[in-house]
Amino acid sequence: MPHTITLISGDGIGPEVSAAVQRILAASQVEITWEEVSARGDIDLRGAHAVNTDMVESIRKNRVALKGPLATAIATGQPSINVALRKALDLYANVRPVKNLPHVKSKFSDVDIILIRENTEDLYAGLEHEVVPGVVESLKIITEKASTRIARFAFDHARKHGRKRIHGIHKANIMKMSDGLFLACIRKVAEKYPDIEYKELIIDNACMQMVLNPHQYDMLLLTNLYGDIMSDLAAGLVGGLGVVPSGNIGDSAAIFEAVHGTAPDIAGRGIANPTALLMSAIMMLEYIGEESAARRVESALHKVYRDGKSLTQDVGGAATTSQFTDAVIAALEK
Ligand code: NAI
Repeated sequence: MPHTITLISGDGIGPEVSAAVQRILAASQVEITWEEVSARGDIDLRGAHAVNTDMVESIRKNRVALKGPLATAIATGQPSINVALRKALDLYANVRPVKNLPHVKSKFSDVDIILIRENTEDLYAGLEHEVVPGVVESLKIITEKASTRIARFAFDHARKHGRKRIHGIHKANIMKMSDGLFLACIRKVAEKYPDIEYKELIIDNACMQMVLNPHQYDMLLLTNLYGDIMSDLAAGLVGGLGVVPSGNIGDSAAIFEAVHGTAPDIAGRGIANPTALLMSAIMMLEYIGEESAARRVESALHKVYRDGKSLTQDVGGAATTSQFTDAVIAALEK
């Protein structure tokens, strides 16, 4: 079945890694028509009006997008386009699988964890103001609606992907009301999924446990800020952000993207590693029902990593982006 997918190739190394992924997916013989849209100039950075842009309309229409990294200004009044997009499309679930790749130097082997992060509220609600000069307040918003919805998503995801255990991560010993509500919602949902074991851990202990023994985790369910931090921590255990994918998923649209940034230090040099975006594209193939193509591309990627001869510099090889891409395509066609 042919698919039309929105492509936001992004900034910095974004266009290089996007082109590599497009070539690999073309070789996988999934019929994709890419609708390329720019993230620049057509989004109202106040966020509220982002829904009228070409980019958002394209994703609404196609329901799926692949996205490269976008440069974000730090500590200016400009909100992040990434955050604005998630809000505009209500992409409430951030899914971050963390798994080892052969030949990638890492602290642990055989790590295989899925982190599910609530994507729309918590301290990311963007409600900050100056109370009086020298005092700033930032609101942590937790609602029953969003907490219940992400809990259902996580338990459904566990069933769909054959996962057996979910840890709810919190700091309800201190934030008794906000994190307390998050936990109460998960517990209620968990009762309806007796086949999935449900446990809870306080965030600080959960981080220490992650570094000591990540193998005890199957799936983690977290609020926005804890999820942001802990998913990067987990990625660090398997080799970093260059080798993990992500999906931002809502009820009517999804955006799959690499979690690394625009890598301005290597942009334009043809040496960027497209692995993270390719792994995100594999998640995207599963999402659009192209399960068998997803497995073929994944197995080609793993072959290239096992073989180890065509890896890019960031993972200890010497290959260029296009040599790596050629190797994945050759492995696909074997
Ligand atoms: P970064 O991830 O762009 O770079 C950190 C280091 O990792 C650099 O040395 C870079 O060369 C390397 N690196 C990253 N991706 C790579 C790849 N695919 N292949 C090989 N090496 C890779 O993080 P940084 O420098 O903090 O951010 C740069 C810009 O990216 C900023 O404007 C930031 O806001 C933006 N950013 C965007 C994200 C997104 O759109 N999802 C996520 C993170 C950062």
